[in-house]
Amino acid sequence: MSLIEAARAVRENAYAPYSNFKVGAALKSASGKTYQGCNVENVAYPQGTCAEAGAIAAMVAAGETSFTEIAVIADSPVPVTPCGGCRQKIFEFATADAVITLASLSGEVTTMAVADLLPGAFVKSQMERV
Ligand code: THU
Repeated sequence: MSLIEAARAVRENAYAPYSNFKVGAALKSASGKTYQGCNVENVAYPQGTCAEAGAIAAMVAAGETSFTEIAVIADSPVPVTPCGGCRQKIFEFATADAVITLASLSGEVTTMAVADLLPGAFVKSQMERV
């Protein structure tokens, strides 16, 4: 199963009764395993979590901290792009050359480098004193 197919499959399980916008994400870890996540909303709206966050949490829970590819899919008019917070979450665990595939349910697909998702990312070195 391709990463987009894995993302499309897990999207079916998204819990999105408030936005009615189901999102699926799947990533391939450094070991080659696939981890999936979907958005999980909450009646207290800010408590909801994004699909990307779910996939990353699944990878970390399984004992891995690095991935080379990630795919995200939603029923959007153009390929869905991760929110700002998820870009930072993705950046934390993606390899330097990681690729992200953005997809719409209708079949539009865009691929880009994760590095291009978050120019000027906040990084650990910014917390170091000179
Ligand atoms: N959402 C994601 O899960 N990932 C994205 O990349 C964009 C937005 C979710 C959050 C919320 O449950 C719904 O989509 C509408 O914002």
